[in-house]
Amino acid sequence: MAESTGGVLLLAAVEYSRGSRPEVSRCTTTARGLILIMMGMTIIDIPTTPPGRFAHQRPAARLEDAFKIYGEGDSAVRALDNVSVEFTTGAFTAIMGPSGSGKSTLMHSAAGLDHLTSGRVFIGDTDLSGLSDRDLTLLRRTKIGFIFQAFNLIPTLTAAENIELPLALGGNRPDPSTFARVVEVLGLSNRLGHRPSELSGGQQQRVAVARALVSEPEIVFADEPTGNLDSRTGAEILSFMQRAVRDVGQTIVMVTHDPTAASYADRVVFVNDGSIVDDMLEPTTDAVYDRMKAFGR
Ligand SMILES: Nc1ncnc2c1ncn2[C@@H]1O[C@H](COP(=O)(O)OP(=O)(O)OP(=O)(O)O)[C@@H](O)[C@H]1O
Ligand SMILES: [Mg+2]
Repeated sequence: MAESTGGVLLLAAVEYSRGSRPEVSRCTTTARGLILIMMGMTIIDIPTTPPGRFAHQRPAARLEDAFKIYGEGDSAVRALDNVSVEFTTGAFTAIMGPSGSGKSTLMHSAAGLDHLTSGRVFIGDTDLSGLSDRDLTLLRRTKIGFIFQAFNLIPTLTAAENIELPLALGGNRPDPSTFARVVEVLGLSNRLGHRPSELSGGQQQRVAVARALVSEPEIVFADEPTGNLDSRTGAEILSFMQRAVRDVGQTIVMVTHDPTAASYADRVVFVNDGSIVDDMLEPTTDAVYDRMKAFGR
């Protein structure tokens, strides 16, 4: 794919610029345009130091006094309302809360995909507000994997090219054994030559999961990665993510509406009306379900 990447990606950027993504129209180079396409959304969070066994571990990402306000005056929406949260290295954290509570905003902010109205975001020890656009792009490309609520696959690329894209942008290729393992576990081996329009919704989501995991980033943010999957495929992906955390110390932050999906995590952070309202360790499906019921939605 290396030789054809530039042209194909530029074509993809142009296609997206005809759509509803204003960021793309601001891109000045192919690589940057693609990054912007992939970033075409918003945020993340976490409020306080996590409890229990994670209390003394280094955060892979954190938000400090984060506010995100959309609009002005009477129509202003506080998508994040004074959120401070840490995502521990080597932990699998789930974010739950009612629709519109700010989960995606939190994820996108933590991943440096969207700017806060005020407050600070750190990836490791790096304060994102101190980075130039170029350095922020580089940091996202090398340290962060993001699985979007909408898959954000590039329509003109095959499944394999979509999976390789984040690495290709940096002039690299995935480790062949990692690529083979991820593709095998996600059941994509016989779909690699197909474009997104030739894949089912579940298959597209699995390509998006593979794309985020194949570069083995320091932290993976996943916005409802199993929301469009049947329960068996969803369970396989969750088990895969859980093993990545337990076996190789991958850090994962995942938004989900599903208490069973959340039970795969080490910790659940509950969000409501832009604020973090609870923090649960070693969640079970029943405990998460009971906590969600309290939101009354
Ligand atoms: N670009 C935007 N402009 C204005 N308001 C926005 C924008 N993006 C999000 N919001 C608002 O911010 C709030 C939080 O949105 P967000 O997408 O973070 O919610 P969510 O918890 O991810 O919801 P869901 O579970 O439905 O995905 C909502 O009230 C939403 O309408
Ligand atoms: Mg969302």
